[in-house]
Amino acid sequence: VPSLPPTPRRTCIGVFDSGVGGLTVLKALLEVIPQADYVYFGDTARLPYGSRSVETVSKYAIEASRYLEQHGAQILVIACNTATALALDLITKAVGVPVIGVVEPGAEQAAAQTRNRKAVVIGTQATVSSHAYLKALDSRGVQTREKACPLFVPLVEEGWIDHPVTEQVARLYLAEAFADGFQSADVLLLGCTHYPLLKPVLTRVVAEHVSIVDSAESTAQAVAKLLRRIPLVDPTQPERRHLPRLRFFATDSVEKFRCLGARFLGHSIDDVQHVDLKE
Ligand code: DGL
Repeated sequence: VPSLPPTPRRTCIGVFDSGVGGLTVLKALLEVIPQADYVYFGDTARLPYGSRSVETVSKYAIEASRYLEQHGAQILVIACNTATALALDLITKAVGVPVIGVVEPGAEQAAAQTRNRKAVVIGTQATVSSHAYLKALDSRGVQTREKACPLFVPLVEEGWIDHPVTEQVARLYLAEAFADGFQSADVLLLGCTHYPLLKPVLTRVVAEHVSIVDSAESTAQAVAKLLRRIPLVDPTQPERRHLPRLRFFATDSVEKFRCLGARFLGHSIDDVQHVDLKE
């Protein structure tokens, strides 16, 4: 029997989100770390997380994170801003692999970019109520205004990305956010998985001096930095560069995940498996 050639072990990155929104983070990861494999979990049956309590979000996020660990993830990226803001510490304790959330990398990038130390952060109601971004920015000497924009998630999921209704909603939200001493804020931090899709609209709506920071991109950079520090692949194995293997798990309809997900990821999604997490 001829012996099989050694299979090179490639880093497998687990990405967790409440639904399809985290595919914006996966997209950023694929640009920065194309040589890894990915397992993605979208808890579509239980979304939205953005209006839920700390207890519920923690329980859901831990179940999904363990699932990804059991399915090969050697490092976990919590792409969901709400889950990161409410449950990052509990998730980190519940799994045996390194965990990276989106809040710290986003705050780090915003702090590096602001010149007048004033920023506005937008996210779900739960993210804003947790003040996770406010604390992260405050510790970096940045004065922060947080603003919940609950209508953005359904508008993006409806596909109303570059739509007059969405632009009007954005104008109302951002006028409130950039008021009362925050007119001069020069950074808008996108603290929700869905908001990168709204960048064209948001760029039109904010004042010219405002730069938009996307926590998806900052997180991908943070993961790349971590991987340089702790390489997870066996360096004695030959590295064969080929396309990353992407596997997806969804708790609701596979078909719906495929359709909606393709818009977030920017290309078609093939390997989706339905998962039933027992309560
Ligand atoms: N993924 C969530 C976030 O980034 C948005 C969608 C939801 O509320 O579940 O906060």
